[in-house]
Amino acid sequence: MADKEQTLLVTGASGGLGQLVIENLIERHGVAPERIVAVTRSPAKLAQLAARGVQVRPGDFDDPASLDRAFAGADRALVISVDADPLDSYLSDTDMLGNPKRRRVVRQLAAVQAAERAGVRHVIYTSAPNPEPPTVCFWKRDHWHTEEAIRSGGTDWSILRMWEYPDFHLTYSWAQALGSGSFVTGAGSGRCAFIAREDCARAAAAALVRGEHGRVYDITGTQALTMDEVFDQLTAINGRPVELTHVSPQEMRARLEANGEELAPVFAAFHEGVRQGKYDCVSGDFDELAGTTPDTLDHFLRAHPVTEEQTRVTYRFADHPA
Ligand SMILES: NC(=O)c1ccc[n+]([C@@H]2O[C@H](COP(=O)([O-])OP(=O)(O)OC[C@H]3O[C@@H](n4cnc5c(N)ncnc54)[C@H](OP(=O)(O)O)[C@@H]3O)[C@@H](O)[C@H]2O)c1
Repeated sequence: MADKEQTLLVTGASGGLGQLVIENLIERHGVAPERIVAVTRSPAKLAQLAARGVQVRPGDFDDPASLDRAFAGADRALVISVDADPLDSYLSDTDMLGNPKRRRVVRQLAAVQAAERAGVRHVIYTSAPNPEPPTVCFWKRDHWHTEEAIRSGGTDWSILRMWEYPDFHLTYSWAQALGSGSFVTGAGSGRCAFIAREDCARAAAAALVRGEHGRVYDITGTQALTMDEVFDQLTAINGRPVELTHVSPQEMRARLEANGEELAPVFAAFHEGVRQGKYDCVSGDFDELAGTTPDTLDHFLRAHPVTEEQTRVTYRFADHPA
């Protein structure tokens, strides 16, 4: 089938990544809106895309029948990972029969299986860096299970291991440090090649159009930086000095928890992963897929100067329902 005749499907279509992917498909790749299926739990949010001709379809990973309708007729599907479910932290990975128990995995596999039932030829999944067990970054177990299920499934596949969005860290961690003037890190001299969500969307759109079967793409930024280097850039751009305190990841977690930080386990595990070198990679995979280079962290931070109000933003699980 000629590329132009393929129907391309995106799940999580009203989310930050999903909307950017669809924009990229239309604007950069010239995909006709009618050839795009946007799957979302909230079709009303995508009324503007529907008005442009995109096929907006309701689909909820908790409702497999809705997914059968949503995936019908698609040739290639981008399954965007859903957020970790706070309830999952109390669950082991699998039951006695080896079936996944964690709600995030169950949801993602429901989407992958629906794609298979619908005859989708190629599934693309947004994973995370170095998810192979054992990993201190506990949320990656879900990505690993999903990757494994896709690899052993019946469709062609590509895996996109997205490195960290600076968007997320700027909003929920770095901005607050710029406000308080202090930042505790357990990352030591480890490095991370942050890559903006916008660039992850460019890679995902390109993979949806032309990603190769059997490829695991490492979607990294252009430079792997230490936390000291990240804060040198943040301070230079925002004019606010920040004193970094280096501690062990365990001490970092204890200090964040003492401050009532809801994301303490996530941030501490991420910093430990950085310390272990799990994010220290600059790959050429983005360039190969997208035909260009991703934005530098410096450029991203210049485009997102931190306001006084942002320094007071806190993360609440209640605002991010599963
Ligand atoms: N690499 C990183 O640094 C990083 C950082 C944060 C997150 N992530 C991962 O990347 C994913 C995409 O990022 P994002 O910024 O686009 O997140 P986002 O804005 O939260 O979008 C995620 C989307 O997942 C969909 N979703 C959630 N539960 C679902 C369900 N039960 N059934 C169907 N769809 C469901 C929702 O789409 P609809 O509302 O349209 O149904 C939601 O908007 C995240 O979900 C997370 O797994 C990566």
